[in-house]
Amino acid sequence: MISLILLSLVSGVAAFPSGPPIEACEDLRPLHGGSESQPGSPFTINVNVPTYSPGQQVQVTISSSDGQRFKGFMIQARDEASTVVGTWTNLPTLTKHMACSYDNSTVSHSDRLNAAQVSLNWQAPDQSVGNVVFVATFVRNYQHPDPTTSLYWTGIRSATLTPA
Ligand SMILES: *[C@@H]1O[C@H](CO)[C@@H](O)[C@H](O)[C@H]1NC(C)=O
Repeated sequence: MISLILLSLVSGVAAFPSGPPIEACEDLRPLHGGSESQPGSPFTINVNVPTYSPGQQVQVTISSSDGQRFKGFMIQARDEASTVVGTWTNLPTLTKHMACSYDNSTVSHSDRLNAAQVSLNWQAPDQSVGNVVFVATFVRNYQHPDPTTSLYWTGIRSATLTPA
């Protein structure tokens, strides 16, 4: 009985291919177990402008430096107090909004993503919120049914976007 319960917990986590659970909002940590890789992330976040104005659309591209694909991700913009800011608009296929803190604050993959690059649009809040940094988690692979061998990186940050 206990092993049955454990099994269903594990497969709940392994269902992450269709998007992270809402609990992942807290720390952008999608998996319990799995190895969080240390320095040397092949994945980066690039922003097409160094500054933003209130309400401005900013293009944010997540990609790998070496052509490696990722199967999952979560991304948010945060101010210097680490508060989630802005909204994501016009999402590409295989991505979806997550309502972390508020609607459309966060984007994740939605289903069977396997990409080396994804371009996203972030809309700045109507009031300046000071310096902004994009923070993401990338999942390179899920090992089903044993998520303890999954490989992911959390806390990947973009360059700082400053108010214009
Ligand atoms: C969130 O995104 C949906 C489209 O996916 C849109 O219809 C809705 O207006 C957006 N809400 C906010 C608060 O940005």
